[in-house]
Amino acid sequence: MSANVNSRLAGFYKLPLETRLDLIQQQIPLSDEEARVLGEGLGLSLEQASHMTENTVGLYALPLGIATNFRINGKDVLVPMVIEEPSVIAGASLAAKLVRAGGGFEAETDDPVMIGQIQLVGLSNVAAARDQVLAHRDKLMLLANNVDPILVRLGGGARDIQARVLETPKGPMLIVHLHFDVRDAMGANAVNTACERMAPALASITGGQAYLSILTNLADQRLARARAIIPEEALAFGDFSGEQVAEGIELAWAFASADPYRATTHNKGIMNGIDAVTLATGNDWRAIEAGAHAYAAREGRYTTLSTWRRDGTGNLVGTLELPMALGTIGGATRVHPTARVALKLLNVSNARELAEIVVSVGLAQNLAAIRALATEGIQKGHMSLHARQVAMAAGAKGQDIERVAQAMIDKDAIRIDYAESLLSK
Ligand code: MEV
Repeated sequence: MSANVNSRLAGFYKLPLETRLDLIQQQIPLSDEEARVLGEGLGLSLEQASHMTENTVGLYALPLGIATNFRINGKDVLVPMVIEEPSVIAGASLAAKLVRAGGGFEAETDDPVMIGQIQLVGLSNVAAARDQVLAHRDKLMLLANNVDPILVRLGGGARDIQARVLETPKGPMLIVHLHFDVRDAMGANAVNTACERMAPALASITGGQAYLSILTNLADQRLARARAIIPEEALAFGDFSGEQVAEGIELAWAFASADPYRATTHNKGIMNGIDAVTLATGNDWRAIEAGAHAYAAREGRYTTLSTWRRDGTGNLVGTLELPMALGTIGGATRVHPTARVALKLLNVSNARELAEIVVSVGLAQNLAAIRALATEGIQKGHMSLHARQVAMAAGAKGQDIERVAQAMIDKDAIRIDYAESLLSK
């Protein structure tokens, strides 16, 4: 993150499309090529895409927007977000502005330690096998470290070996966990290779058979946390006092903390922000999603990932904690040209800084959603953007999009048939 960026770009959303990127470039100079990648959507070529996945026949584009107002650990950051849903980027920017009034987000991460699992079956004495594994801990860690000496030189590598006896419908099994510091990678490849390398040794140590060797997406040794304090007066808007808004947000949190039906949607709102930055930076958003929801159910009941409470002075305090297996090297992060530009915009020097931004965006997104829900409702802010999408779906182009959208809002009839009839006129 750079100290020079000013993310407080008032009225950014009102600027003509063509000038927005110029304003960003005044803060983070991009090469002509990088600007073209963003501005003309010339990110991934079909040729590059065909080397990423199989049976490629085309490309699929999504909007990339910049969330403004973010201040994280004392530094401003402009946040690229890739998402098809209206209101998300506006919501994140608005919430970041509220949090900014209290000094911005404080965020931190654990060491980037991923967990790999090796499944051992056919053991005559599972408890004795467990003792055997732990007695060979150092030898096993050495085996894992031999997989990637460069990672070890950079300070990564094996941190621990644990072994769990698991009762399953197919009898007891021994599940060995490798804790592996993957530094700035998401880590799936490093961990999976290390586990596969350890599997034969584990089979011979225990006398059992090794089956699955794979990382877990419940990366609970690699958590990221964000915290925000919003002064009560900053929450006031329209006819709502700061106290009313804060009370509404606390009630929204209490509802979600007690009810899995609500918690699922509450957390979906968090993931709107998290996924959008994860996707922009070429990271594996399915891994982040899986880890988040498993973490939300870690105590045996699905609940909220965030908390919202007032402190003794009436200020609103929000926290968010979840697993954050993100990389700034490896995978698509360096292969996808748009992901590379997104990382440049974020100006992060390592995966931990990226995780601190992403968890802060998640908290902001959650604040935006429950603030709206607890006050004027979600549809008001959503409707004008939704109307534009309906207008486009009906075939509106250029200035007609805005005109048709506004006419539908004025008539309180945001429907594709009405948009079509407006267009035919
Ligand atoms: C919509 O994408 C997200 C929300 O449903 C989140 C929430 O209900 O907290 C608005």
